[in-house]
Amino acid sequence: MRKKQARFEDNRISRNVIEQGKEIFETIKGKWRSEFFKNDNDIVLELACGRGEYSTGLGAIFKDRNFIGIDIKGNRIWVGSKKARMEGLDNVAFLRTQIDHLEKFFEPGEFNEIWIVFPDPRPKGSDEHRRLTSPKYLEIYKKLISQGGIIHLKTDNTALFDYTLGLLENRDDVQDLEYSWELYNSDFALDHHDIKTKYEHQFSGQGHAIKYLRFRFKNDLIDFQ
Ligand SMILES: C[S@@+](CC[C@H](N)C(=O)[O-])C[C@H]1O[C@@H](n2cnc3c(N)ncnc32)[C@H](O)[C@@H]1O
Repeated sequence: MRKKQARFEDNRISRNVIEQGKEIFETIKGKWRSEFFKNDNDIVLELACGRGEYSTGLGAIFKDRNFIGIDIKGNRIWVGSKKARMEGLDNVAFLRTQIDHLEKFFEPGEFNEIWIVFPDPRPKGSDEHRRLTSPKYLEIYKKLISQGGIIHLKTDNTALFDYTLGLLENRDDVQDLEYSWELYNSDFALDHHDIKTKYEHQFSGQGHAIKYLRFRFKNDLIDFQ
């Protein structure tokens, strides 16, 4: 408990954690580039980031891109925040919020790419609306992501992968859908740069193949200006 409190205190004083109680939490919408990153580079979101392994991992490789890990759990975000601070990754930030509230933090077109890595599978039918690839969330992503922005999903969970593929294949606003049932036996593996999250280590130890898909929305006609 004391460890958790110390992490929360660290989050409170760390610039790279945007959370309730800080002024920037209320004012950052539309200003990520001008007020936080202070550059015009692309912004990549890692949703349900947990410890933020993709944000810090990709952030260390792609210094000319900005990364924002988003999760509701402050003690997990702290791990990524600390790593980013230790490694001097000024292009990495963490936002502590429910993903349902993305519209409170981003203007349409403000970010360019989304990674969803090992989201909770929420297997109960009554929990479908809580899956991060359910129609409710897809509509939020479609509204906010910039034209042609790629959305990635990485999971070990066959039911969630099936569910998501089924939804995407039946939508007429989805393009460039590509996938593999065995990420590490596919050419897509290179795009992951050997980054593995806490949950991936846990589940691949149980022998589950890692699945991956990516797609774009046909949102070319949306005018973000
Ligand atoms: C299974 S964990 C995966 C964490 C990390 N991506 C990994 O692979 O280790 C799922 C994460 O999603 C977060 N989460 C689930 N639903 C969320 C929501 N609606 N808003 C914010 N975070 C959410 C949880 O707090 C948790 O950290």
